[in-house]
Amino acid sequence: MAQTSAYGIRSVDLAVRDLEATKAFYEAQWGLKEVARENGSVFMRATGKDHHVLALHQASRSKLASITLGAKSRADVDALHAQAKALAATVLEAPHELSKIGGGGYGFSLQSPEGQRVNIAAGVAEHGDHEQDASKPERLSHVVLNAAKYDEQIAFYRDVLGFRMSDTTDFMDFLRCCEDHHSIAVARSEGACLNHMAYELPNMDGLMRGTGRMKKSGFEMGWGVGRHGPGDNVFAYFVEPNGFVTEYTTGMEQVKDDKYEWHGADYWATAFPRPCRWEMATEFRPGFREAMKGKAVEERNQRCEEVIAKGLAQGLKGAAE
Ligand SMILES: [Fe+2]
Repeated sequence: MAQTSAYGIRSVDLAVRDLEATKAFYEAQWGLKEVARENGSVFMRATGKDHHVLALHQASRSKLASITLGAKSRADVDALHAQAKALAATVLEAPHELSKIGGGGYGFSLQSPEGQRVNIAAGVAEHGDHEQDASKPERLSHVVLNAAKYDEQIAFYRDVLGFRMSDTTDFMDFLRCCEDHHSIAVARSEGACLNHMAYELPNMDGLMRGTGRMKKSGFEMGWGVGRHGPGDNVFAYFVEPNGFVTEYTTGMEQVKDDKYEWHGADYWATAFPRPCRWEMATEFRPGFREAMKGKAVEERNQRCEEVIAKGLAQGLKGAAE
């Protein structure tokens, strides 16, 4: 069993093709706010204390670039690094002082068995103010990863980073590293990519108002509003402009001690109605399930590359004439 554990999820880094358009979406529709920028990167905060919950990086293809987990102290960063080395995990960067533009602090980076970059950070700058608007995300809640090397991914988060198993369904494992029922979930899939990221709103009224803002802006819900089985949280899912699935959530079950009782697939198959406890969000918008498998991101990347290739071909033809 791991001696030291990560503590909470802090932020997601996304590589995106159109930095400014993506930033505009997350600011005007999703409810985040730019807090810093540098050399093709924009850092965006929620209303809570975390320095940023989303970092966007200009790139030729959209993809999940990394996730950042918290650690309680610098000593925990060093202990987690030692733990990672002892278990022969791939360390990308040893513990060091982190860039001030991202809020500073002290941390290191490693690579998951499926090649995803995972950053661990402690002592990152925090905001003292708190915007009182419940329709905007307060913090990052959790990230769900599609995994082909399913068992290896689970072992990585459990053994290297100290996560504990909260629940298991027939297609997903829910892992916790703080009071939240899950900060990471791993879904059985054909390939490694982001299934979705979820942002927490303070209450139900805020979730409904945020969802209304998205709808008014032309973003129809992919799935929701509903209530999950594992985690008990309320959800409203959307597909953002790059094709990533993003969730508004509220009311996740809090695990205050180690006495949480794990349940397996048989339990979750019958304990509550599926796929929504309320039996309300039973339909998925066309294409939404594929988006959760990362298909929407891939399609949009491909479409963009085809447009660029066509433009280049036309340019070459024009130059030859
Ligand atoms: Fe979720």
